[in-house]
Amino acid sequence: MQTRNRISVAIAAVLLAATSISSLSGCQKASPAQSSAPAKSILEMEPIPRTPERLARGKYLVEGLVQCPFCHSDYDFTHRPARPVDGRKGGGHVFSKEEMGLPDGNVVVASNISPDPDYGAGKWKDTDFVRALRQGIGHDGRTLYPMMPYYYFRSLSDEDLASVIVYERSLASVHIERPKTLLTEDIKKSLQPMPPVDHVPEPNRLDRVEYGKYLATVGHCDGCHTPLDEKGNSIPDMYLAGGQLLVGAWGPDPEKTVTVASLNLTPDPSGISYFDENIFVNSIRTGSVNARPLANIMPWAYFRNLTDDDLKAIFAYLRTVKPVKHRVDNTETPRYCKQCRGKHGFGERN
Ligand code: HEC
Ligand code: HEC
Repeated sequence: MQTRNRISVAIAAVLLAATSISSLSGCQKASPAQSSAPAKSILEMEPIPRTPERLARGKYLVEGLVQCPFCHSDYDFTHRPARPVDGRKGGGHVFSKEEMGLPDGNVVVASNISPDPDYGAGKWKDTDFVRALRQGIGHDGRTLYPMMPYYYFRSLSDEDLASVIVYERSLASVHIERPKTLLTEDIKKSLQPMPPVDHVPEPNRLDRVEYGKYLATVGHCDGCHTPLDEKGNSIPDMYLAGGQLLVGAWGPDPEKTVTVASLNLTPDPSGISYFDENIFVNSIRTGSVNARPLANIMPWAYFRNLTDDDLKAIFAYLRTVKPVKHRVDNTETPRYCKQCRGKHGFGERN
């Protein structure tokens, strides 16, 4: 099943994501002797206490990194940077057939997660959000289609996840009813929720590479920048090597469906070895790599709101991933690539 959407997540990535959590959290479980009375996790509190610090951190994370409104809103891609249609932020979105690339009979809908009591999340609990973000379980118990990036959001620290929920639930209500996601039985059967996560500690901000890995994980660069095989699984050994095709009306013409391939972010000469910190920060801030504009489906509209320090940490991490030789160029005519078995600019050169 090849999915081509605002972010295509390989179903086989479940296991990978599960491993990356334990490596991010360092598996540090307190021994019984040390934790006679463990403090109740903030995520078990109902409601999670609304504090100004959480609201501010949640705003930073949502508007800069984890991009909830990017999928959960009708979007205006004609504008640069792209933005939610006025009054629709968080109000849900029905994805087009072209964008999803799924067989007939499947319709994926990002739910209305605004606080509207009738059509949104107004009556859901904070713990419903925790389960959706960490396990991929909807408020009604269904397993969520993994376009919702729960494989990645699982890695959010308890405190960051609490902040994201506090901010998300503070947004204005959008009084629009959305249909439910409709999936055929074979796809439904292939979906598994993730196991619960006990506790994810704060990332170590002093280790720039490790912190950058944390930011890149929850910002789900992998969801778009790793190419997929015919079944929609990540191609082994091509982590962040680009070439995944994203199909949609990414602008400037709202009626025109275009295909954009993600690019190679590894430190290979065919990737971004020529970038330095400044080129990286500038490209993300302006949505242009020197004079070459980046398509609006690349969430630079969000990432541009990150601090220089956080962008530099992401870049430091990207420098440490395995270099993969894979040429991808959206300014060239798409041609078959035997390496990722897709069709993208410079495919014939691989
Ligand atoms: C790449 C797209 C995408 C992003 C980014 C995204 N979501 Fe989702 N989300 C979806 C889709 C699609 C669904 C519906 C899946 C289904 O119905 O099977 C969903 C479902 C959910 C649900 C479950 C709703 C229900 O009906 O129970 C919640 C809660 C949710 N998302 C919250 C969030 C939050 C909070 C964020 C940001 C941290 C976020 N989402 C980011 C695509 C996305
Ligand atoms: C929703 C899909 C999506 C996500 C998520 C995403 N990207 Fe991208 N990115 C793209 C696409 C598509 C392009 C190519 C755009 C174009 O050529 O117009 C791109 C291009 C880039 C480029 C330009 C590379 C070059 O050689 O010019 C950089 C840098 C980049 N992305 C970094 C990131 C980082 C870092 C993350 C995670 C924090 C990320 N992207 C997450 C889709 C995505």
